Amino acid sequence: MAILVTGGAGYIGSHTVVELLQKGEEVIVIDNFSNSKREALEAIKSITGKEFKFYELDYLNREALEKVFEENPQIDSVLNFAGFKAVGESVKKPIEYYTNNISGALVLLDTMRKYQVKKFVFSSSATVYGEPERIPLTEDCKTGGTTNPYGTTKLYIEQILKDIYMSDSTWDIAILRYFNPVGAHESGLIGEEPQGVPNNLMPYVVRVAAGILPELSVFGNDYDTPDGTGIRDYIHVVDLAKGHLKALEKLEKEKQGLFIYNLGTGMGYSVLDMVKAFEKATGKKVAYKIAPRREGDIATCYSNPEKAERELHWKAEKTLEDMCKDSWNFIKKKQG
Ligand code: UFG
Repeated sequence: MAILVTGGAGYIGSHTVVELLQKGEEVIVIDNFSNSKREALEAIKSITGKEFKFYELDYLNREALEKVFEENPQIDSVLNFAGFKAVGESVKKPIEYYTNNISGALVLLDTMRKYQVKKFVFSSSATVYGEPERIPLTEDCKTGGTTNPYGTTKLYIEQILKDIYMSDSTWDIAILRYFNPVGAHESGLIGEEPQGVPNNLMPYVVRVAAGILPELSVFGNDYDTPDGTGIRDYIHVVDLAKGHLKALEKLEKEKQGLFIYNLGTGMGYSVLDMVKAFEKATGKKVAYKIAPRREGDIATCYSNPEKAERELHWKAEKTLEDMCKDSWNFIKKKQG
């Protein structure tokens, strides 16, 4: 039995492939390197000491994708990390986002159906909750009201998956709603490499500390939070990766069903908490200034992760210090 991982060279995909290989699973990776690097594949091999099959292809290419299933009849489940994920870019390129994320998922799901592979784990996002109905967010909170095409693709794919399951209950689907993934593998060999100036907080903080960027802009200090800055649920990418293995185990056990889980820590930290934690963990100074609010941001977003703990026996274990240290370690290694 093998697990097909789309987008396996990317940030979350690569960390998940490492965990799968270390568990002894057979993994087949596809990636088109649209937002990842070939080096990640070598890094995965050196971390794990294991080999895996790799296909360079775009998952929208049905013919090429069918060939992968044709050549590997042992595939029995699929993890889909092949989505575009930059909020700001999605506003400028909605057609590219809807095509890659939604059409790509449809080609993949249709191909899975053709080859009778019906176990699917989908990378969703806390963004599907829009303006949170209540905090902490539980999986039954209302979804919708997404404020950018990226978030809307996640919301629509969740709906598509629910409709597929309604039409054929032999599918076995896990929808994982990620909160804010940060950090890197402790080896420092794989991590997040955003192209250009990062949009997300942690990659920005790391680059200020490393002297690559002059200072962090803290987007708003007048939110209704204790220090006025936005609060999020930051989760170490290795914990997140492990959540996928637990979701696969659940699908293996249940045989059929559609399950939705928040993957977060349940802890909310503000932007200034993050700056302080980073400085404490690394001994590096992070220069910052207070800037206006960023459009589309909400004040507070963190999870109630109890459902995943109860049903998947998964819980985030790494600390905020680990997240900061590992992010720093990764960029230092990159800088050489
Ligand atoms: N922030 C700053 N300065 C920066 C970058 C971010 O102050 O330079 C603040 C934001 O205003 C926010 C917090 O840091 O309060 C986190 O911002 P991120 O951009 O790191 O993360 P978001 O919560 O906005 O969004 C992230 C992902 C989305 C995902 C969402 C899920 O980027 O893909 O989490 O909640 F959908």
